[in-house]
Amino acid sequence: MSKTGEVVCITGGSGCIGSWIVRLLLDRNYTVHATVKDLKDEGETKHLEALEGAATRLRLFQIDLLDYNSIFAAINGCSGVFHLASPNIIDQVQDPERRTGQKVNGPRSFMAEVTRKIDQPEKEKELTISFSIFSAGCIETYENIFMGSVHFKDVALAHILLYENKSATGRHLCVEAISHYGDFVAKVAELYPEYKVPSLPKDTQPGLLREKNGAKKLMNLGLDFIPMDQIIKDAVESLKNKGFIS
Ligand SMILES: NC(=O)c1ccc[n+]([C@@H]2O[C@H](COP(=O)([O-])OP(=O)(O)OC[C@H]3O[C@@H](n4cnc5c(N)ncnc54)[C@H](OP(=O)(O)O)[C@@H]3O)[C@@H](O)[C@H]2O)c1
Repeated sequence: MSKTGEVVCITGGSGCIGSWIVRLLLDRNYTVHATVKDLKDEGETKHLEALEGAATRLRLFQIDLLDYNSIFAAINGCSGVFHLASPNIIDQVQDPERRTGQKVNGPRSFMAEVTRKIDQPEKEKELTISFSIFSAGCIETYENIFMGSVHFKDVALAHILLYENKSATGRHLCVEAISHYGDFVAKVAELYPEYKVPSLPKDTQPGLLREKNGAKKLMNLGLDFIPMDQIIKDAVESLKNKGFIS
């Protein structure tokens, strides 16, 4: 579907999910405003500027989530905003207002106030995101956690499908499958016998049901999820390329 001439903004455009959204939007001929925290930081900008179409249809903006004017400059003239600028952290948040741009005791988030000012679609859409993880060696930390897996590319595509489908409403679960965490670990061990992958000694969540079609709403919109094997392979290759594992 060609979206030539349509301008959209992605906050957090340099992040894992944001980068994929920028890439897929450029592929669909959108003009993209992507925000980063620091325009001088090449780690945030270089991979975006290297994308096909970026030279003519990507504009980068530096924003501070608590600075209205910086955000307004990025979203001005856009027909939609994908709001991803928020840290994905597991340690305790020390400064929630700065971290999220959300007035802690306020009635609406700062970003929500800003997005009200653009040419908004008639309704709000929500996306529930699950995520992929490569877990080799993490048994102490993750033993009791269950996770659905999904490729970052599919998370990005889900955002775009929801944006483009005016009939989409409510929450959308975005997982390739709902499986036991032990299934995931076993698959990693099967694909990569050369790594020391722990096998879970027992079912940590007995009774949990597997479900292949948990994300039916997105599937009905045409999302054909990348399977678990490929998610793991792409994650491992990415970790290798970046030198985290050998
Ligand atoms: N990845 C996951 O597995 C996962 C799972 C569930 C939910 N999510 C949610 O999905 C969203 C995006 O996740 P992600 O994995 O793409 O995260 P990410 O890779 O950490 O990217 C976050 C992006 O937001 C920017 N950002 C963070 N704090 C900011 C601030 N105060 N002002 C302006 N920009 C800021 C970051 O800029 P810098 O690069 O400069 O820091 C980066 O571009 C987050 O809300 C996250 O909580 C992610």
